[in-house]
Amino acid sequence: MTAASPETVELTGLQPSRDDLLGDVLKGLAASPKRLPSKYFYDRRGSELFEEITRQPEYYLTRVELALIGQCAAQVAAAVGPRAHVVEYGSGSGRKTRLLLDALEDPVAYTPVEISRSALVGSVQRLDQEFGPVQMLPVLGDFTQRIPLPEPERQARRVLVFFPGSTLGNLTDAESVRLLSAMRETMGAEGAALIGIDLQKSPALIEAAYNDAAGVTAAFTLNLLARLNRELGADFDLDAFRHRAVYVPEAGRIETFIDSQRAQNVTVQGRAFGFAAGEAMQVEYSHKYTDEGFAALAARAGLRVVHGWNDPRDWFGLRLLQPA
Ligand code: AVJ
Repeated sequence: MTAASPETVELTGLQPSRDDLLGDVLKGLAASPKRLPSKYFYDRRGSELFEEITRQPEYYLTRVELALIGQCAAQVAAAVGPRAHVVEYGSGSGRKTRLLLDALEDPVAYTPVEISRSALVGSVQRLDQEFGPVQMLPVLGDFTQRIPLPEPERQARRVLVFFPGSTLGNLTDAESVRLLSAMRETMGAEGAALIGIDLQKSPALIEAAYNDAAGVTAAFTLNLLARLNRELGADFDLDAFRHRAVYVPEAGRIETFIDSQRAQNVTVQGRAFGFAAGEAMQVEYSHKYTDEGFAALAARAGLRVVHGWNDPRDWFGLRLLQPA
């Protein structure tokens, strides 16, 4: 495939439609407490803001994971073996992918599955130039749905699902088990998955990562409302809502809310929703894991942990999973 400009990149398009967005938003605003799905953060602006989050000093996750992948890539490659078809969920910018593809022996194809067209196209264009022999087979879509895998021209020996960034942490436990089960089907009996998980640590460190001093995370969160204004003609007053992220140790997760600063009404497609002063709308979870907790989640999906690597401070981990 040639990838000269965004218009010429071939994609398998399974992205959520405007109707999906509208349906999810109307349902979430009618629920009590109100909630919105975090997957809708990633429009073009949201993906840019997320990249900016990864450069904030408080947001350790990306830096620590990148260093960790660099450190254990050779061991990962030895465990995976030659001629893998790498399938990445939520490909983002492709920086981690580059390290993985570099280390693997003769990878045959790369299938990023990404909800943001701009992020997907950008990463495939860059990687295609660097990894000529690796066939680029991008899928534009929501990785929480089952994904029919494109067939590489060259036969792969195994599928390796790559799911870095602790993105799994944005799902509830039930959703995680469902996604891991779908992943097990996608990878097949000979397949494997390499998953990045943020580990439980000092709550202050975790909370700071989701409340950076420059306010980038707040802008990222509130961009969701700007997106709904743009795409659904909603009338959220962005100055009347605030980002709030708290670590809940009992749940082992960051819980992010958008708080209404005053009593107000918001209209979406002719439907009005009332917000009380101080009312919290739940928009994101970011789960933090223990070894046992993660292994138990994997086991519920019929997967077992066959290898694990942590950074020297045990802040972040990579786990290699195979069908149990
Ligand atoms: C998409 C999982 C990498 O939960 O840490 C960053 C998203 N949200 N800051 C995370 C996010 C707020 C992020 N991941």
